[in-house]
Amino acid sequence: MNNEPSAHHGTQPVDPNAPVLRPHVYDGIQEYDQKLPNWWLFTFYFAIAWFVLYWFLYYNLGKFQTDHDRVTSQIDAINQVKAWELEAMLAKLDDKVLWEWSRNPQIADQGAATYQKLCVTCHAPDLSATLAGAKLPGLPLNDAEWKYGAKPMDLFKMVQKGSPDKTQAVQMPPWEQVLSASDIAKVVAFVLSHHTEPATADPPKVSAN
Ligand code: HEC
Repeated sequence: MNNEPSAHHGTQPVDPNAPVLRPHVYDGIQEYDQKLPNWWLFTFYFAIAWFVLYWFLYYNLGKFQTDHDRVTSQIDAINQVKAWELEAMLAKLDDKVLWEWSRNPQIADQGAATYQKLCVTCHAPDLSATLAGAKLPGLPLNDAEWKYGAKPMDLFKMVQKGSPDKTQAVQMPPWEQVLSASDIAKVVAFVLSHHTEPATADPPKVSAN
């Protein structure tokens, strides 16, 4: 019978490769006191080094794009394309082209789809700005009265920019952020398809009597 305490702590075996236990016991739990495996240490130190490097490059030197940069540059690119499209569109659009488009059923149909989606709430499906006897907020688009000009390009501008007077109680919203220039041109063509083109050149005056 050997009651002599071992050279190490109480229960420790002598085998140098056997797990070493730390002396304290909490809630009946004892901890090993071992060196962590190298592969584990390597990933741990690597993560720390990577964090420092990344933090430095990302936040201090701004070497990488943040999500914010990325989204902003995408939005800029989209706006740039929109601006180009608008310019190209405006370069080729005029009153005559819009009247021509209004006689093109395919274009007018595409405009009608936009109209049904975005304009009926205020201008009514039949363009009368009344629905079942009730007056809607918009102005009638099927009459001969145009508050801001009767020319197709006047209508285009109206749809694009909305009411010129931004203080009046009832507003026509601007659509340039929602619709592309060609969508606006098509919806204007749809409105014009309910009208007849006024004779452009004054008819030769025949002096009668
Ligand atoms: C929120 C209601 C509303 C919506 C939606 C709306 N409009 Fe209007 N629209 C108005 C109002 C109000 C006016 C009159 C604005 C003014 O007096 O300044 C108007 C005026 C117009 C005019 C000029 C009419 C005139 O007599 O000169 C046109 C053209 C027009 N809208 C087209 C459209 C088209 C096309 C759409 C869909 C893309 C649309 N509107 C959507 C409310 C609306």
